[in-house]
Amino acid sequence: MSIEQAKLKIEPLRIAINRHNHRYHVLDDPSISDNEYDHLIQQLLTIEQQYPELVTVDSPTQRVGGEALLAFGQVRHEVPMLSLDKAFSQDDIQEFDRRIHDRLKSDEAIEYACEPKLDGIAVSLLYDNGVLTSGATRGDGQTGEDITHNVRTIPSIPLRLLGSDWPEYLEVRGEIYIPRAGFKALNEQAMKADEKLFVNSRNAAAGSLRNLNPEVTANRPLEMCCYSAGLVSDGSVAEKHGDVLKQFQGWGLKINSEMRIVTGIQACIVYYENLSKKRERLSYDIDGIVFKVNDLALQHKLGCSVRAPRWAVARKFPAEEEMTVLERIEFQVGRTGAITPVACLAPVFVGGATVSKATLHNMNELERLDVRVEDTVIIRRAGDVIPQVVKVVLERRPKGSLPSVLPTVCPVCGSDIERSEAEAIARCTGGLYCSAQRKEAIRHFASRKALDIDGLGEKRIDQLVDKELVNTVADLFQLTDESLIRLERCGAKSAANLMSAFETSKQTTLARFIYALGIQQVGEATAMTLAHHFCTLAALEAATADALQEVDDVGPIVAQHIALFFQQDHNRKVIDALLTQGVHWPAITPSVQVDELPLAGQIWVLTGALTVMTRDEGKAYLQSLGAKVAGSVSAKTTQVVAGENAGSKLTKAEALGVPVMDETTFMVFLQEQRVAL
Ligand code: IVH
Repeated sequence: MSIEQAKLKIEPLRIAINRHNHRYHVLDDPSISDNEYDHLIQQLLTIEQQYPELVTVDSPTQRVGGEALLAFGQVRHEVPMLSLDKAFSQDDIQEFDRRIHDRLKSDEAIEYACEPKLDGIAVSLLYDNGVLTSGATRGDGQTGEDITHNVRTIPSIPLRLLGSDWPEYLEVRGEIYIPRAGFKALNEQAMKADEKLFVNSRNAAAGSLRNLNPEVTANRPLEMCCYSAGLVSDGSVAEKHGDVLKQFQGWGLKINSEMRIVTGIQACIVYYENLSKKRERLSYDIDGIVFKVNDLALQHKLGCSVRAPRWAVARKFPAEEEMTVLERIEFQVGRTGAITPVACLAPVFVGGATVSKATLHNMNELERLDVRVEDTVIIRRAGDVIPQVVKVVLERRPKGSLPSVLPTVCPVCGSDIERSEAEAIARCTGGLYCSAQRKEAIRHFASRKALDIDGLGEKRIDQLVDKELVNTVADLFQLTDESLIRLERCGAKSAANLMSAFETSKQTTLARFIYALGIQQVGEATAMTLAHHFCTLAALEAATADALQEVDDVGPIVAQHIALFFQQDHNRKVIDALLTQGVHWPAITPSVQVDELPLAGQIWVLTGALTVMTRDEGKAYLQSLGAKVAGSVSAKTTQVVAGENAGSKLTKAEALGVPVMDETTFMVFLQEQRVAL
């Protein structure tokens, strides 16, 4: 075949293959057999092998190409990828609709698009002149990871858009996920190969997308469902969300077939009820329903807060509970020696994941629940929250069972276990002699909110401590390529990646560094407050317990922990070593005057369980607005926020006439404040 003949043949062949691919993977309606399809691909490959100069990036033969990557590049999102506000009840949904009416100053019923909230990974695709040029994860919303190589392997993502009426430059956003059947097959395969199973399809999708080798991704049953346009230029999309999705469909992109346009919030509630009933029968996992104002001009008018658009809300499904049998209780040793009883369960599918462990928090909780080995228990798992044991089904308790008791010695190092009268917490007295405590300290130091050492996972830390390569966190920065390569399952590439992660992590912030030290009761929020109060590490180290108590939120016990920590010679040595090895952070300049902040002078109390954020996060938000957050309610309290199961503090607030708000009102309040800021 001459090159001229090849040129004539190649394009129709690609168009035909793209159409068949679309019919099979997007429409689920193939019109030729697999053999016939393979034959078309083979013909194309033959021509491309003869004339490599005719190969294009959007050729269907180019889905998996090139070498595995060493690391992901970064992609900046021109239009930030936001999150969604959550609603947990019908009231929340009505409140959402009311806010929209208020903001639009209109009584007219709003048109909403209703869509399932897929439980996968948010992704952005760029089409330049109809050709897929880039794929990226959401990341922190501003910057994500470049996963172009991997998205190209997903058959439901067109490498070239169908039709021709697309804008010249189009960013498509959507969710990449693994349907239930694919997830089941993936785990069956893993089981046969004696590999670790995936906990849920979301994790499997995330792991598959964040794999450096596109060949691995190509073998995972990933799909993408598109739900909005991002950046659009040199052309435009339709004026309503539902119509944009129809355009997507015409361009060969997959959209969710359950999407409906309805009028008025009542119809949204009906949609929710109907889809909740249908949920189990869907071929993919969903964790809620998203309602979006359909008219893009109205969306624009409503705008966004820092975190989420005001024109959309995700109605989450309620927490799920299931029954299972507790097989044994494991006693885990934490960073400060605290012993956490953990229930090991017969695996059970609850709240969208298979659960085989649930926390029992501490000995008081274990005793309160009176859980015993072989008990049937009720497990609750909601969203990403750690599964919990809710209660024991006493009717099913086997005869002759005995109450669970705290071991007398540490299961890891054999040191005595101590449990003070006042404390619910039992502790191993081994200190740094206990390898579990050392490992936990390192894990904490390397964790995402601390020094964020990418690739230093639990298994690697176990090896490093067990082989005595690392005793303190400072030893991490003394590791060399040679010592790492000697570890099991650590090739040259992993060693090099880890070495570069150590280097990257040295550039940090003072708040992260303080948090990373793992001082008892100094969480992320307190570390941040300390950093901004003292501005330098030297000032913090020198602070007396009294000076520390001047910091918002630091009571006598925390002050004592901090002062004691810095008095210890071994801690100072570790800090010095870290600084000598180059750990550093930008200087902090004292910023806004606290008394100028909107909640200056106010005293807030958070009580009960918050579901959308942790109490620490809530506290940090309030502090950033200038409020003082107290641990108990008094006549001086300005405002109480009561989460689920709020107890005596709520009663006291009511008795004293202190204003109380629930979590949803609190969320709305924070959003409004943050916008005003
Ligand atoms: S709209 C700014 N629609 O939910 C609008 N998101 O909690 C945000 N998600 O990061 C996206 N299904 O990963 C939208 N039908 C859907 C969705 C959906 C799942 C995810 C998405 C987003 C997260 C927000």
